[in-house]
Amino acid sequence: MNRILEVRNLYFKYRNDFVLEDISFSLDREDFFGIIGPNGSGKSTLLKLIVGILKPTNGEIKVYTDKISYIPQRIASMYHIFPATVEEIVALGRLSDGILRRFSKKDGELIDQALELVGLKEFKDRKISELSGGQQQRVHIARAIVSNPELLILDEPTTGVDVANQEKFYKLLDHLNKNMHITIIIVSHDISSVANEVSTMAYLDKRLHFIGKPRDFFKKILWPIEIEDLLRR
Ligand SMILES: Nc1ncnc2c1ncn2[C@@H]1O[C@H](COP(=O)(O)OP(=O)(O)OP(=O)(O)O)[C@@H](O)[C@H]1O
Ligand SMILES: [Mg+2]
Repeated sequence: MNRILEVRNLYFKYRNDFVLEDISFSLDREDFFGIIGPNGSGKSTLLKLIVGILKPTNGEIKVYTDKISYIPQRIASMYHIFPATVEEIVALGRLSDGILRRFSKKDGELIDQALELVGLKEFKDRKISELSGGQQQRVHIARAIVSNPELLILDEPTTGVDVANQEKFYKLLDHLNKNMHITIIIVSHDISSVANEVSTMAYLDKRLHFIGKPRDFFKKILWPIEIEDLLRR
């Protein structure tokens, strides 16, 4: 079966008020799915429900793989208290199911390959806190790659990354999607990158107001100012 994710009539509340209402959609393997929406619209909450960190209040989520790699929002803000090297962070991706084991030569090779792919081989022994925001994001991608995921979930990975590096970052994601056949779900505020790169996009604001091809999203919304409004609210 080609399905990788099914979300049906999903409702979620942390306390009294619903932050997600009646969300239904499905994704096939090798989809590249982008989610946009204003601050507080429930994007991160939806990702946490998909990953299983949160449980639906109502409705259901079915994920047809256990090979999920999740890169949370604002992960980089913790690095000043976390004196690990680039190699050590990437190596975390080789630890699965909490089983501790010795690293093999194969692990080392996979880590080197992943660092090569994201263009950070020469940064291997650097402290992660000494890297730029864009470089740190590529370290996270390398960590995800070595865990060999079928589904990669990224929450605002390009926040604080300049435009040139954002473009490189999306090229890298495109490579993972097209050539390594990884299904990708990305939340981003960067509407033009999302629209250019993804195969399916969604506009979320508590409810799913749009889901479909990026070009159809722009057909429905005539003026750029409306898009700005949608994202700012
Ligand atoms: N742990 C929590 N407990 C209670 N309320 C929460 C919690 N986390 C988020 N919320 C609330 O749920 C709503 C959705 O939050 P969420 O983080 O999913 O939004 P978001 O779309 O990811 O926003 P942003 O673009 O700022 O990252 C917000 O109103 C937020 O205040
Ligand atoms: Mg968020």
